[in-house]
Amino acid sequence: MTVANMKDVIKRFGNVQALDHVSFEIQEGEVLGLLGPNGAGKTTAIRALAGLIGSDSGEIMLFGEKQEVNNIRLKQHLGLITQEVTVFEELTAEENLRFFGGLYGVKGDKLRQRVKETLEFVGLSEHSKKAPGKFSGGMQRRLNIACALVHSPKLLFGAVDAS
Ligand SMILES: Nc1ncnc2c1ncn2[C@@H]1O[C@H](COP(=O)(O)OP(=O)(O)O)[C@@H](O)[C@H]1O
Ligand SMILES: [Mg+2]
Repeated sequence: MTVANMKDVIKRFGNVQALDHVSFEIQEGEVLGLLGPNGAGKTTAIRALAGLIGSDSGEIMLFGEKQEVNNIRLKQHLGLITQEVTVFEELTAEENLRFFGGLYGVKGDKLRQRVKETLEFVGLSEHSKKAPGKFSGGMQRRLNIACALVHSPKLLFGAVDAS
């Protein structure tokens, strides 16, 4: 299945052409890395793919549907692993997962089940009632990944560049 497809996308900011006929496809199970120097247009391409900004021309398809700015329905299937750990230190691991799952509209039994599954997936089941403020760096990072997966996203973004 084709998860994402950008075809001939152009995006200008005033005189700057940030995207110049960008085309790529992502198939289910594939990992795609965007490499390039500062200002190459990586962030702009990701923002357009996620529907945070529109493009001037070209087409962006996500999960077989046309992407548009602020398409909430498509956003529900996106996930983000931030470079910095962005969990709440005051909440327990489980409460963090319930919070992030809830942001994406997962609730009730489904949320309970996904919280349990993602805690198992990242190996933190035994620490579910503890606050991540006391976790090691690696455990915090695993909880951060779990928070990005709890709503079962179809497309996961991971930033290795904070710029
Ligand atoms: N909101 C904006 N307003 C004006 N120019 C922008 C904006 N966002 C990005 N640009 C410009 O678009 C180009 C691509 O930027 P960006 O996508 O952030 O590159 P990268 O992430 O590859 O470093 C740069 O020249 C940048 O200055
Ligand atoms: Mg960038």
